[in-house]
Amino acid sequence: MSNTENLNTEAQTAAAVPKKLHIKTYGCQMNVYDSERMAEAMGPEGYVLTDRPEDADMVLLNTCHIRERAAEKVYHELGRLKPLKLAKPDMKIGVAGCVAQAEGEEIRRRSPLVDLVVGSQSYHKLPAMVKAVDAGEKPIETEFPVEDKFDMLPERPASARPTAFLTVQEGCDKFCAFCVVPYTRGAEVSRPADRIMTEARKLVAKGVREITLLGQNVNAYHGAGPAGEDWSLARLVRELAKIDGLERIRYTTSHPNDMEDDLIAAHGDEPKLMPYLHLPVQSGSDKVLKAMNRKHTAAQYIALIERIRAARPDLVLSGDFIVGFPGETDQDFEDTMDLVRKVGYGAAYSFKYSARPGTPAAERKDLVPAEVADARLQRLQALLTEQQRATQQAMVGRECWVLFEKPGRQAGQWVGKSDFLQAVHVKAEGLAPGTLARVRIIEAVTNSLAGELV
Ligand code: SAH
Ligand code: SF4
Ligand code: F3S
Repeated sequence: MSNTENLNTEAQTAAAVPKKLHIKTYGCQMNVYDSERMAEAMGPEGYVLTDRPEDADMVLLNTCHIRERAAEKVYHELGRLKPLKLAKPDMKIGVAGCVAQAEGEEIRRRSPLVDLVVGSQSYHKLPAMVKAVDAGEKPIETEFPVEDKFDMLPERPASARPTAFLTVQEGCDKFCAFCVVPYTRGAEVSRPADRIMTEARKLVAKGVREITLLGQNVNAYHGAGPAGEDWSLARLVRELAKIDGLERIRYTTSHPNDMEDDLIAAHGDEPKLMPYLHLPVQSGSDKVLKAMNRKHTAAQYIALIERIRAARPDLVLSGDFIVGFPGETDQDFEDTMDLVRKVGYGAAYSFKYSARPGTPAAERKDLVPAEVADARLQRLQALLTEQQRATQQAMVGRECWVLFEKPGRQAGQWVGKSDFLQAVHVKAEGLAPGTLARVRIIEAVTNSLAGELV
């Protein structure tokens, strides 16, 4: 997360001289959201954010455990913090997030510099844990507590941005054979709808125009409505869409098997639901999909995409892919390439399989040699990049809505996002964050689109 935005202003803090908190965020959007809420939790304790670790009284690493390299980064970063801690022994170092959840004790053993370890479900306890550190303890909180952390956290302060994340669902019951998330985030839990509606209304009252609903399996959302009735994600989206001033709704990340009919219908007839969908498939081979425990076939996924596109023809689709899953043959990989050609992605993330401790796939011995996986990843990424370029290029000459977020790097430039989540910049003076304007796209540059106000 960029720590430049002051979530906690001095006026909100209790202490006369604010202490400084640096948070470094790894991993997915939910970690970005959690980092904001951790900063907010520390506000009443007298902490303001700094983007410079060397100025900090406390450094929090909000970590990701999804792939081996992601987890290793934490120990690397702790090594880099060592000289700071030695120079300033009062500085507190905390490890939060999914590595904390997965290897709490091991972190403390491997890195004696760490003062506290707090899992993703326990960070509402941060203020108490910091007090324990002051009393000479080294607290670890990696339980899945019975209370809901969201009920214990302070109310959200004014937003500096027109876009916000909002966690509606956490955890995962899918147990894909390669994935640590069910172990780090726990079982699927949906927040009650009225809490989400209240949080959303407050965000909008403070200037937010676009909300991205977050969940590890966000479309598995089934939360309790105000009278205890079941709300699906589609119901939640439709109720959120009634909030005046909220212009755009997105959600991420979804599982193909939870793409229910009412959600597909909402893509067709709810104008505030944006035409961009991240729907990972991981592989195009039925054999690999089965071994991954994804519980659908390639043909079922393609048929699902066809149904969603029938509801919303201009939908831009994004996906995640893993190459080199144990046992993946050349033919399995070609099946993935075929699926990508059939579906057509506007954006995508692709990864080399990484064996994660404790997952069923990590037991497998039929590993794909690294150089084979590398070559496959290169070919897949070349195809995905080509598709992404074509999607960007297809925007040239078209008009679209852009929600402007901030001035660009160049003078007189503003940047924002199209409905399709593409970065767009225009030459303009005096726009305000949160302006929604019509833009004609004039050029597709590498990772963004250049446009002019209509
Ligand atoms: N809940 C989301 C994914 C969360 S993890 C979903 O079900 O799609 C984000 C992505 O990381 C996954 O989609 C997958 O492509 C990748 N990933 C997860 N575990 C991995 C592993 N062990 N090795 C490589 N990539 C992995
Ligand atoms: Fe991981 Fe699969 Fe759950 Fe996604 S659905 S978080 S990939 S176990
Ligand atoms: Fe990483 Fe945890 Fe998110 S493992 S991807 S930070 S849920």
